[in-house]
Amino acid sequence: MPGKERGERALPGKGTGSKPRTKSAGGAPEPAEPRETKTSIEEVKVNENLNRRSTLLSCQESSADLKSEQAVRPDRLGEYIGQTRLKSMLTMSINAAKSRGEALDHVLFYGPPGLGKTTLARVIANEMQARIHLTSGPSLERPRDIIGLVHQLEEGDVLFIDEIHRLSRIAEELLYPAIEDFVIDLTTGKGHATRTMRLPLPKFTLVGATTKAGMLSNALRDRFGFVCRLDFYTIEELSGIVARTAAILNVAMETEAVEAIARRARGTPRIANRLVRLVRDFGHYQGAEIIDGATASSALDSYQVDALGLDVTDRRLLEIIIDNYDGGPVGLETLAATIGEDSDTLEDVWEPFLIQRGFIQRTPRGRMATAFAYQHLGRAMSATVSSKILLNSEVKQLDLFAEKLPPQSGQAEV
Ligand code: ADE
Repeated sequence: MPGKERGERALPGKGTGSKPRTKSAGGAPEPAEPRETKTSIEEVKVNENLNRRSTLLSCQESSADLKSEQAVRPDRLGEYIGQTRLKSMLTMSINAAKSRGEALDHVLFYGPPGLGKTTLARVIANEMQARIHLTSGPSLERPRDIIGLVHQLEEGDVLFIDEIHRLSRIAEELLYPAIEDFVIDLTTGKGHATRTMRLPLPKFTLVGATTKAGMLSNALRDRFGFVCRLDFYTIEELSGIVARTAAILNVAMETEAVEAIARRARGTPRIANRLVRLVRDFGHYQGAEIIDGATASSALDSYQVDALGLDVTDRRLLEIIIDNYDGGPVGLETLAATIGEDSDTLEDVWEPFLIQRGFIQRTPRGRMATAFAYQHLGRAMSATVSSKILLNSEVKQLDLFAEKLPPQSGQAEV
C-alpha cells in the first residue's frame, strides 16, 4: 500500500518512524533519517485504553484495532468510502492548495469516535505528499511539549492533534500564533532577565480532532479554515468498507455476510472492521471456506450484538431509562451513576449512536427513551409515557456536537 510507511512520526519501537521526504537544496525530495516525536498518538491511545472497558462494540480503538487498522485503512481519498460531502470539499481544497504550492488550510474534524478522523488526517498528508506528526491534546501539557513539536515541523507538514479540546490553556495560547501567523513566542530567563523571542515556523497544516466540539474555545475554533463534522456511515457505505476489508484480509464473504456485519456495526467503520475479524475467526473455527450470512449472523449472535447493532450495554441503558425512570427524562450524571459508567464515556461513546438511530432523545431536562426504543425492546408504553414522548417529540433535539458551533465568517462548515 503506497504511503503506509511514509511520513509518520512515532516513538521508537512503536509503529512507523520513517521520514518520507525532506527537501534538498535543489528542492528534490530525498530520503532522510527517521526522527522521533516525543509522544505518538499510538502510545497515548494504547495507554488510555488500559483504563477503559473493552467491548466488542466500543468505538474506542484497542491495540488490536491499531495493529489491524494499519493494513486496512485507506491511504487516499479515492479509496475512502463515505463522508461524501466532506471528501469532495477536501478534494477541491487539496487540489487548490497543491496547485498553488501551499499548505492546506487548518482543518478541524469533530464527531463520535471511530468515524475516521485520524484516518482522514493521514489521507490529507498522503494526498499533499506531506509528512504527518501525530499527537494528542493531553500529551501537550507544558510549553516545551509544544515547542519541541513545532520545532520539528517542515514546510507543508501535517500536525495532527487528537482530542484537541483537552489542550492545556498554556499549550493553546502558544499554538495561536503558530497556527495563525506561523511564529512561536519563546520566553527565556526569569524575573528581570525574562526575554521573549519570536521565531518563524514553516507553513504547516494543523488537523485537529475532537469528540467534543462544544468544549473547544471559540478562539481556537476560529483559527481553523475548515470545520468538518463526521457523520455515522450508512449501511451501504459500511457494506463497502466491510467488503474492502474482507478482500484485504483475504476472507471470502458472501454478500449476506457483508450486509449482516454492516447492519450491526453501529454506523462506525472501526466497529465494522472489528466485526470482520471476529466473523473471520469464527468462520475459521467452524471450518467455513466461504463465510455466508448464517455464519456471520451466528458469530454476531454469540457476541450478543442484535440486528440493529445494540449490545448488552446499550440495551441495559435503555432498560434503565424505561424501568427505573419511567422512560425519562433522566439527567446524564444520574444515568451514568446508575449504569456505573463515567458520564463522559456515556456521552461521547455510547449515546451518539443511540441518539442518531432514534433510541434516545436528548432533551434540556435529560435523556428520554423513544417509542422506537420501547418497540425494539418489546416493551409496552403506558398512556402517561406515550403522552410524555409525544410532548417531547416537539422539543428540538439538542445537537450533540454542534453546540456552540455556528459557522464562522470565512470558515467552511462541512
Ligand atoms: N476502513 C476504515 N474506514 C474506512 C473508510 N471510510 N473507507 C474504506 N475503508 C475504511
